[in-house]
Amino acid sequence: MRAAWVLLACCCLVLRATKEPFEDCNLHKLNSGVKPGFPKTIKTNDPGVLQAARHTAERFNNCTNDIFLFKESHIKRALVQIVKGLKYMLDMEIARTICKKNGQRNLDNCDFQTNHTLTQTFSCYSEIWVIPWLHKFTVLVLLCH
Ligand SMILES: *[C@@H]1O[C@H](CO)[C@@H](O)[C@H](O)[C@H]1NC(C)=O
Ligand SMILES: *[C@@H]1O[C@H](CO)[C@@H](O)[C@H](O)[C@H]1NC(C)=O
Repeated sequence: MRAAWVLLACCCLVLRATKEPFEDCNLHKLNSGVKPGFPKTIKTNDPGVLQAARHTAERFNNCTNDIFLFKESHIKRALVQIVKGLKYMLDMEIARTICKKNGQRNLDNCDFQTNHTLTQTFSCYSEIWVIPWLHKFTVLVLLCH
């Protein structure tokens, strides 16, 4: 289990080492002097949760070298906390779509793989910090296995 959790981090290191044109996968620390609110459960179909989940999938795609794009397939649990904006904590699944990375980038138009040799799903935990009034999204944590 633990070995699997570090898989994604390793992918990122490899990508960085080979200087592929992917985003640097260092995750950001939320340095807030503000006392955070208590995390509370939020509906998994809340528009803010859906946006945070999409952002998680986009970061996942930026951090892996799969030829296909992955997209959020199921949000199992969502929490939100007020910290200079909103911090979403998501337990979700991400699955491989039929869209290739070098083609379509709009995940809305990407269906999931149905070919059994190509279907793949990861369980992920992510923390996304959103400053709604600045439309700013920051991925604080992304762990997938
Ligand atoms: C993914 O990479 C693209 C292209 O470099 C970038 O514009 C986008 O902000 C990145 N998204 C995330 C969530 O890291
Ligand atoms: C499923 O994908 C594999 C690997 O790409 C391919 O060889 C096979 O023909 C595909 N099967 C179908 C039914 O499309």
